[in-house]
Amino acid sequence: MSGRTLSDHYIEFLNVSKAFDDHVVLDDVSFFVDRGETCVILGRSGVGKSVTLKHILGFLRPDSGRVLVDGADITDWTEEQLTEIRRRVTMVFQSGALFDSLTVAENIAFPLENRVDLTYDQKEARVAELAEMLEVADVADNLPSELSTGMKRAVAIARALAQDPEAILYDEPTTMVDPLMAAHMRAAWPTSGPGPASRPRPNRSFAISAGRMN
Ligand SMILES: Nc1ncnc2c1ncn2[C@@H]1O[C@H](COP(=O)(O)OP(=O)(O)O)[C@@H](O)[C@H]1O
Ligand SMILES: [Mg+2]
Repeated sequence: MSGRTLSDHYIEFLNVSKAFDDHVVLDDVSFFVDRGETCVILGRSGVGKSVTLKHILGFLRPDSGRVLVDGADITDWTEEQLTEIRRRVTMVFQSGALFDSLTVAENIAFPLENRVDLTYDQKEARVAELAEMLEVADVADNLPSELSTGMKRAVAIARALAQDPEAILYDEPTTMVDPLMAAHMRAAWPTSGPGPASRPRPNRSFAISAGRMN
């Protein structure tokens, strides 16, 4: 891919401004997040945390400034080009957005469905591992409607991790901080040891977590 040398950072905002009509939400914002780093955006409700995250995946585009992901300037990328970024960087939305008609296990397995490099048993093991990690193994056969908000959130995170993304963006995972951190320790960085956990993992994962201060 061209443009990889533009930035050594995994995510970089360069002088990003964004307004909705005359309501300026982002005003000349610059920051970067390096590989392996966890970055937390704090601010009161309505300050622009979700808007910031949406720029990283191209769901929103800046009025001015540049957004770079993995060294590439994605600011002017087409929807088709952005599909690639959205596969490598996943976002766990505030709502969780689970598939209502699928069980917890099926939700977690969803990103694995088209993986030809994994056997059925490996997929099963990975789903079980993620369910365990996010503490939803006991409800693996339940539907999302039967779960608490916090558990739905946990399932959404497990599903995001199943995709083996380079980075995960979390939008206000306030009720999920402990399992989230556990998942990071065990899933986001390279691990060793027996079983499915020992297969190669990207070593540049990190999370951006937008938390609210009240
Ligand atoms: N698509 C949109 N159209 C118009 N205004 C928006 C849109 N998305 C966000 N906003 C406004 O931008 C501001 C920041 O929103 P948001 O990033 O969701 O805040 P938060 O920090 O709580 O996540 C809010 O005032 C919100 O109303
Ligand atoms: Mg928000």
